[in-house]
Amino acid sequence: MNTPPAVSWAGADPYAVALRAGRGPLFLRRTDGWLLPLEVERWCARADAVDRAVLDRCEGAVLDVGCGPGRLVAELAARGRTVLGIDVSQAAVDHTVRLGGQALRRSVFEPLPGEGRWGTVLLMDGNVGIGGDPRALLGRVARLLRPGGLLIAETAAVDVDELSEVQVVDGTGAEWGDTGAGTGGAGVFPWARLGTPALLRYAGRAGWRAVGQWTAGGRRFVALRTRSSRSASSSAEPANSAALISSQRARKPSVDRPVADR
Ligand SMILES: C[S@@+](CC[C@H](N)C(=O)[O-])C[C@H]1O[C@@H](n2cnc3c(N)ncnc32)[C@H](O)[C@@H]1O
Repeated sequence: MNTPPAVSWAGADPYAVALRAGRGPLFLRRTDGWLLPLEVERWCARADAVDRAVLDRCEGAVLDVGCGPGRLVAELAARGRTVLGIDVSQAAVDHTVRLGGQALRRSVFEPLPGEGRWGTVLLMDGNVGIGGDPRALLGRVARLLRPGGLLIAETAAVDVDELSEVQVVDGTGAEWGDTGAGTGGAGVFPWARLGTPALLRYAGRAGWRAVGQWTAGGRRFVALRTRSSRSASSSAEPANSAALISSQRARKPSVDRPVADR
């Protein structure tokens, strides 16, 4: 598997500080100085009407990739759905668990429970940017989903197709780094910004089927489906198994706990 560096947010102190405080200011800063504001307050609040309408579309067991502080995981859990959040940030995982959700500190590019069996994968709040390589991320998500599974992705509000090197910075102009494992020096990591047309282009080339696109509350979304069959599934279990999802407690990542799908 092509594995982009799983660094960035994990070692970004300002991200952890902002999540603990429940507020920014926080930005992704490109190497040319351009700042993308991060909506920490919204991410730390409860799921809003736009979020809830997205969650209404979810099918089967849901994997929230880059779950952040966990508002979507918590909302789905409160609805009685099988849901797991994954995030490379320990602060994000801790917050999600405190809200009553299940979450793992794990990169989407690392081995995950339930590979090939998730009903829905969420890439919300710009998370199509994870890894800075949309082809690799779409390929990875396709392997996480069951055949015919659903990806709901939030795209940029503008029609952009951009790969850049960024850092997480706060409003003071200070920057915090990870261990330097990114591609461009300490704290710098690749990130992509995709508008809806760009995501549809990448997805179409990779064999995904677009099944919806909508705008709500100034935010844009795309729903995509994998092909309903694939030659090689990573699932070791029969497709109709009742115990579909192996979940893990955040603080005991080595212990698999089977959870029945709904
Ligand atoms: C733009 S924020 C989105 C916040 C989030 N969706 C929410 O509801 O608060 C990106 C999130 O993805 C996480 N992330 C970045 N790279 C990741 C990776 N390779 N695997 C999993 N999560 C990742 C970050 O730690 C961060 O929480």
